[in-house]
Formats: sequence, C-alpha cells, structure tokens
Amino acid sequence: MANRKFIVGNWKMNGLRSALGDIGGIAKIAEQNSGVDVAICPPATLIASAAAEFPDVAIGAQDCHQASSGAHTGCLSSDMIKEAGASLSILGHSERRADQHETDADVKAKAEAVRSAGLGAIICVGETEEERDAGSAVSVVCGQLSGSFPEGADGDWLTIAYEPVWAIGTGRVPEASDVEEMHAAIRSKLGELMADGSENVRILYGGSMNGGNAAELLAVPNVDGGLVGGASLSAEKFGPIIEAAA
Ligand code: G3H
Repeated sequence: MANRKFIVGNWKMNGLRSALGDIGGIAKIAEQNSGVDVAICPPATLIASAAAEFPDVAIGAQDCHQASSGAHTGCLSSDMIKEAGASLSILGHSERRADQHETDADVKAKAEAVRSAGLGAIICVGETEEERDAGSAVSVVCGQLSGSFPEGADGDWLTIAYEPVWAIGTGRVPEASDVEEMHAAIRSKLGELMADGSENVRILYGGSMNGGNAAELLAVPNVDGGLVGGASLSAEKFGPIIEAAA
C-alpha cells in the first residue's frame, strides 16, 4: 500500500518562545500541502504554546519516560506530554541512546507508554560509521528494531525512522542504493515482527535531509517520509522538504 508521506521536524535543543513564529510559518506550508502529514517536535518547553497557537499542525515531543509517574527527576510521562498538546513522540533517537544510554528495552517500554496514552511513536534506529564500515549496518539496525519493537504495534500509531548516525548533522547522506537496501530490510523485518499490517508502518529516512536532496531520498522505495533536524528549524528551509513530499 502506498503510504502518505510523513515529514517530521526534530528541533532537538533549539528554540525559545521567539521561534514560535517559525512553527506558524511551517503550519501554513503544511496546510498548503494537505497531501503530506507534517509534525514538528520542538523542545518540551514549547509544546503547550505551539499546540495552542497552531492547532492545525501536529506537535510532538522528543522523548517520553516509560513510567506513568514517580521519582524520575527531569522526565515527562506520556500523560504529561499529551496534556501539553503533543500527539506523538520521537523515541530512541541516537543522541539519546548515546547521551542518556537508552537501551532497546527502554525504547520498547517508552513506545508502549505513549501508545497507552493514545499517542503516536517514532522509533529511531541507525548504525554508526564503524558498524557500516564493518559491513554490519543491516544486522545492527534490524537488531535495534527487534529489541525496541513494542507490543500491539500498528501503522496507525507506530513509525520507524532510519537515521545513520554518521549522516546526522554532517551534510553526508548515504547513496540512494544504501537507503533502499536498509529500508527494504526494515520492511522485511517488520513483516517478521507483525502478524499483519506491516506495510502500513511508515519508515522515515533521517540524516542531513534538506531541500536539495529531499526529492531524491523520498523517491526511494519504502521511504515514506523524513525525520529532519537542522533543516526543520525555519519555514524557509523546511518548506521545500514538505513540498518535495507532496
Ligand atoms: O532527528 C533528526 C535527525 O537526527 C537528523 O538531523 O537533519 O540535522 O541531520 P539532521
């Protein structure tokens, strides 16, 4: 089945209140490209105001704790991000796997928590440069996918983002043939992990996607959208990516 493209902006640790205007500009472009699903994941401090001011674009979180409440200083539960106005959360981004030592089991539990709150989950997977050079990229990524895969997964709420770690923020992008090989491997692994409906789970590509390379990347088989960092921070840069997906 041909999935609608899904373009997600991950603002990471960027954006004060003064950046809300950029979300407004992106929301306008999203409205003009209604054939594409668009979401912005600003820092948690902006979720509530972005969701209130721009109800027509999906607002997401960048993480969510697996527990519903408790002694977890600095963390947010799925009910908290939902109440703030998030409709989804990015989970297991490589920066969190590296900086916060998140494991596949953590990511699986987080995905099940956001699902329980009725939110969508975008689970990130991706190999390091050393793993690619060693020829183990596909097995590493499929291993992460299996270990992070939540119970009751369904394409209505689960999205996978393939992000080669070495392509994030570096301006380096894999060859289209490598992206095709990895997305086909992820699609096939989804087929093993799910009793049915694996073709409805969208698989995003992330890593130095921009207005100049988006059309080529989005045309690769099994690339159902993009998870965009740096180029999602302004409507000027993000707009062409949304338009390339239309
Ligand atoms: O979540 C987004 C990715 O890490 C990609 O970031 O577009 O700045 O390379 P980037």
